[in-house]
Amino acid sequence: MSSKSTRILEILRKSRDYISGEEISVELGVSRSAVWKSIGKLRGKGYIIDAVSNRGYRLSEGIDLPISDEIHRYLETEYFGREIVYMDSVDSTNNLAMTLAARGAAHGTVVTADQQTNGRGRMGRKWISPSGSNLYLSIILRPEVSPAEASQIPVLSVIASIRALERMVPDLPIGIKWPNDIYCRGRKISGTLCEMKAEIDRVNHVVVGTGIDVNMKPSDSIRDIATSLFMETGIEHSRVRLAAFLLEEFENVYNRWLIEGNLEFIIDEWDRHSLLKDKQVDVRTVNRIVSGKVMGISQNGALKLELSDGSERLVYAGDATLHGASPVS
Ligand code: BTN
Repeated sequence: MSSKSTRILEILRKSRDYISGEEISVELGVSRSAVWKSIGKLRGKGYIIDAVSNRGYRLSEGIDLPISDEIHRYLETEYFGREIVYMDSVDSTNNLAMTLAARGAAHGTVVTADQQTNGRGRMGRKWISPSGSNLYLSIILRPEVSPAEASQIPVLSVIASIRALERMVPDLPIGIKWPNDIYCRGRKISGTLCEMKAEIDRVNHVVVGTGIDVNMKPSDSIRDIATSLFMETGIEHSRVRLAAFLLEEFENVYNRWLIEGNLEFIIDEWDRHSLLKDKQVDVRTVNRIVSGKVMGISQNGALKLELSDGSERLVYAGDATLHGASPVS
């Protein structure tokens, strides 16, 4: 958004009542027609601005688009989300984030979108991404760790999402399905796709892309498999605030992880939220299915399984389903 539009937005926010175009133009030192043009641009972005002759303009409502200016009203982070690239529509925020990262975008740069035309999930699945309802957010990280250590990042991201969702709706009964799906009363509400560009011993960049179903309404195609904050609570929630919460929580756990060097500090929290703990599961890995009882996660993010012969097996990547149940996305 241009700096003129941003400043007009600030003036409208500050003024509780109508403010005339004349007053705004004097405050900014620009012409009244420039004010009028900027008001038109703000409306085009979705801000609802009332105009009454002889009284002037009044901001009726902010918008709930995860654009930089809106998220920055709430965001208190050092790096995460200091730079936000917003797209009305994009194929996938992860794709764009990977491209920007390859071109040198800074650690903590975020890509958000109102809609994704080719939202991607794990294991080649699709992520349904309609406009005007959900949060699609990808963040670029440049951790100075080995690729093996970077594989712990999905655990950090799922804990950040859990904390952000609990800040939005404190008593929401949410749980984690390893590795980083979040379910609410049996239906999926959030998922994360982590992608990495690395050499054998060095990480170039990681992109963590999170989708959270915020205001999606029930429809036949998703009723049994997906839910949203709206479907769970009956009220609409702010994508902007949720984005800010997510970035704050993620920066907190990420920084702590860099200091600690492993995931020990969140294992209890993970256990408390795990939907699979002590359950018999089948884990589909790249080349086999491993079955066992879930004992928790290890310090480095692997799923700890107790096999039928009593031995322990660590599984680093895959998709877990309750033993005998059909896979869900
Ligand atoms: C999964 O549950 O399989 C992961 C879903 C990840 C979806 C998010 S939405 C933002 C980012 N962009 C994408 O294309 N995917 C991730």
